[in-house]
Amino acid sequence: MPPRPIIIDCDPGQDDAVALLMALASPESLKVLGITCVAGNVPLELTQRNARRVCELAGRPDLPVFAGCPRPLILPLGTAEAVHGQSGLDGSGLPDQPTMPLQDRHAVDFIIDTCLSAADGEITLCPLGPMTNIAVAIVKAPKIVGKIREIIFMGGAALGPGNRTPSAEFNIATDPHAARIVMEAGAPLVMFGLDVTHTVITTPTRLDAIRKIGTPVAEAVSGMLSFYDRHDPERYGEPGAPLHDPCVIAWLLQPDLFRGKETHVAVETTSPLTLGRTVVDWWGVTGNEPNAIVMDRADSDGFYALVVDRLSRL
Ligand code: BDR
Ligand code: CA
Repeated sequence: MPPRPIIIDCDPGQDDAVALLMALASPESLKVLGITCVAGNVPLELTQRNARRVCELAGRPDLPVFAGCPRPLILPLGTAEAVHGQSGLDGSGLPDQPTMPLQDRHAVDFIIDTCLSAADGEITLCPLGPMTNIAVAIVKAPKIVGKIREIIFMGGAALGPGNRTPSAEFNIATDPHAARIVMEAGAPLVMFGLDVTHTVITTPTRLDAIRKIGTPVAEAVSGMLSFYDRHDPERYGEPGAPLHDPCVIAWLLQPDLFRGKETHVAVETTSPLTLGRTVVDWWGVTGNEPNAIVMDRADSDGFYALVVDRLSRL
């Protein structure tokens, strides 16, 4: 089978960075057409810069990186420096300024142009941050929906609590209105919410396995993950941090690592208390047609074996 063409839409972020590295390490399975950046974990100026820093780390300065929307559709931007540090990639030890260029074209236009020139159902979109760019692309050019094979996203929580508010996960809470547009667009969805990402934790043994790879990529990743998981033991009572975004790429590479259920997911956009909640009809009580595969289980040891395998390739 030829490699699957994907666009990764992200807000790096240490976990976004690991997802990007895994994808770039897997050219036989994934053809990364471009990386589009959005404001999220840190402002856009930093997420687009971080995406280029990661491409350079992976030895892919040729990859096109695009800057997209600098803020959510309606809400003011709320960032997450407390988790990711001031740069968004604290701990990586990478040079601050990448030398590879940022593309001139807007990320939204790259998504639209790529989809419109593709066959029906050809392009896979992988949003790893707030869904602003994807929503704007759908609103600007609704015809792209027919070109999308799947939108595989990290975001939301199906059955458990949020991490940004008691109800909502960060990516969806940051731009709930964009997420709602995406959920209602009609493209097939695959959701990796906190239910599953909180089962893939960076324990000291797993971090050690990454460090022992012994390459510059492994050194940068173990540095950034050591920073990233510094306060999670206190926060979640776990021995490390959830490696959220790489779940999306891991599923593309090895789907049998995860279990999910076809069901309906909607986004709460009206109630202040639960704004950004992903309302997942787990037991099919609404009669709504399923619009998503919602993941709830991962083989976490298998997941980390895959992470180590892919990082070792770079
Ligand atoms: C999500 O929010 C960000 O902090 C991470 O990069 C991930 O995409 C987890 O809630
Ligand atoms: Ca992210």
